[in-house]
Amino acid sequence: MSTAASDSTNLGDGSTPMILAQQVCKNFGSLQVLKGISLEVTRGEVLCMIGPSGSGKSTFLRCINHLEQVNAGRLYVDGDLIGYREKGDRIYEMSPRAAARQRRDIGMVFQHFNLFPHRTALDNIVEAPTQVKKIRKADAITRAKELLDRVGLADKADSYPSQLSGGQQQRVAIARALAMDPKLMLFDEPTSALDPELVGEVLGVMRELAASGMTMIVVTHEMGFAREVADQLVFMDAGVVVESGNPREVLANPQHDRTKAFLSRIL
Ligand SMILES: Nc1ncnc2c1ncn2[C@@H]1O[C@H](COP(=O)(O)OP(=O)(O)OP(=O)(O)O)[C@@H](O)[C@H]1O
Ligand SMILES: [Mg+2]
Repeated sequence: MSTAASDSTNLGDGSTPMILAQQVCKNFGSLQVLKGISLEVTRGEVLCMIGPSGSGKSTFLRCINHLEQVNAGRLYVDGDLIGYREKGDRIYEMSPRAAARQRRDIGMVFQHFNLFPHRTALDNIVEAPTQVKKIRKADAITRAKELLDRVGLADKADSYPSQLSGGQQQRVAIARALAMDPKLMLFDEPTSALDPELVGEVLGVMRELAASGMTMIVVTHEMGFAREVADQLVFMDAGVVVESGNPREVLANPQHDRTKAFLSRIL
């Protein structure tokens, strides 16, 4: 990752936000999906993002790890500009290799767990650290076992995804992301594909992760989680941040009609 001053907002004094989005815009053809998203997540903070289907939540997360190119604006993670290099007032896209290097520090967990079906839980977790980070297999296995224990699945190391419940698969997916020692974790509706009785166990793992100091952005409609765990709640609609703030305040006393209408539909 470049440390050139022009590519970095790192102040070197601990006050650099973990995530800084400045007027991020994203179009798909003529469709404007993100229309200038600005937000900031401090180290150790949890931001929950809510909003109607199609409002751009997943697209925004995908821009943070440069799975999507932005059309305008800037995204910084831990002070480093994501996906681009700045030269003067112009920006140039990074090589795929450099972007992949940045992406290693960003854990992502999706609605569908995307585990390798032909590998055990343990092997799913060991894969990236050994292949991408070149960590010794024995060390990666030790760490994977610790992570399985952390997500409550110490006894499932040798199970294949098809032998695990959805909630268990999602906990393996979280352990897999953690195995890369990410600086931050992005969750895109991690519980919305789960049977209701399995939601709690996944939220429990995420709660523990938040308590351990992990910086997280969580797209979710689990308002109990947002209320208790999040430091910020962001309501997005049609590609803009309509309202954000302390989750308890936003949920109890939404200021905008669009927020009120959305919350009345889901609460
Ligand atoms: N690769 C793509 N090509 C074209 N349009 C896309 C692409 N990805 C997303 N879109 C469009 O961008 C808009 C925002 O999609 P996005 O998935 O970010 O919404 P979302 O807020 O995550 O919705 P949901 O709650 O349903 O997951 C939608 O209109 C979607 O159809
Ligand atoms: Mg989505």
